[in-house]
Amino acid sequence: MAAAAECLVNGGLVAFPTETVYGLGAHALDPAALARLFSAKGRPAHDPVIVHVASVADIAPLVSTMPPAVAPLAARFWPGPLTLILPKSAAVPLQVTAGLETVAVRIPAHPVAQALLRAAGVPVAAPSANLFSRPSPTKAAHVLEDLDGRIDMVLDGGTATVGVESTVLDLTGPVPTVLRFGAVSLSDLRSVVPDVVAGAPRMVADATPQPSPGLLSQHYSPRAPLILYEGGREAVLDQLMQDARGAISRGKWVGVIAANEDTLSPTSANLRVVRIGPEADAVAIAKRLFSAFRELDAVGVDLILVRGFPAGDGLGMAVQDRLRRAATQIVPCPLRQPTRR
Ligand code: TXA
Ligand code: MG
Repeated sequence: MAAAAECLVNGGLVAFPTETVYGLGAHALDPAALARLFSAKGRPAHDPVIVHVASVADIAPLVSTMPPAVAPLAARFWPGPLTLILPKSAAVPLQVTAGLETVAVRIPAHPVAQALLRAAGVPVAAPSANLFSRPSPTKAAHVLEDLDGRIDMVLDGGTATVGVESTVLDLTGPVPTVLRFGAVSLSDLRSVVPDVVAGAPRMVADATPQPSPGLLSQHYSPRAPLILYEGGREAVLDQLMQDARGAISRGKWVGVIAANEDTLSPTSANLRVVRIGPEADAVAIAKRLFSAFRELDAVGVDLILVRGFPAGDGLGMAVQDRLRRAATQIVPCPLRQPTRR
């Protein structure tokens, strides 16, 4: 831990576990370290990163004003999977915020992240520790898959318990707005700040400055094209397996991401099924989602077919959101199948 903290303070890049996903840390007030961070990830400079600190007291120097909602939100959700967008102070380099006058701040709960932040004693800029546009890493092995040779160190804290990135809440506009769904749900947030709204996801990539580039489509993607089937369970599984058989008959290797209880037949040597949890268990599904993307990429499938999972609130919504962004195509499957001749 001492070596990792020293590395960070001296401008190095240290990947570390958080309860959501692994982050790639760099000294947030050191422009040279930040330049290395963006280059290691292949991340474009217009995508701002989250600053991680150990405690609420560490936030004051990073912000120009403290919105009144911060204290009650912090008391309820920090340390934990919530990121707040706040007005930035002059201390925060514009590299961190991609030129924005706002800064994203999070206090992670993972004991290794907490220990590292305390030992380093500096704010730590940490995007997810994946190559740009790849799925976020939920294990140390995923970090090495993408970044071995490009970073100084990774701290292995086992598998991330949440599995999808933090909820991002913007407190700098007229209305508190959720910019990214995560484990802290809209209703959780509204129990503390009643007027929170969900931001409209921007589904088309373009070159104009982004309120939150996490809202772009085509994020978090596996290498293979991903087709998402949404609708009633039976209709979804029928259509998905019909398409799987079609692709296999054309000589393709097909990966399927399904729920534990889904019936998927017939099996085939060219079909690889990854079951990521019981349909109704959003906690289990979120935890295994990105890992399933990477598993199927590692096998080398040509195509990944995924059934949609119930959205609900909180993690279910986060899973739906990540799947829609990862999808190259979304196939709506109506509850009632058209009659076939
Ligand atoms: O769970 C997480 O949040 C993980 C762990 C490592 O903490 N981090 C993470 O970082 O997901 P990253 O860089 O992959 O995602 C940061 C998100 C992006 O969607 C980015 O656009 C948004 O936060 N963001 C950062 N600064 C922002 C700002 N000033 N205004 C609006 N959105 C911002
Ligand atoms: Mg990321």
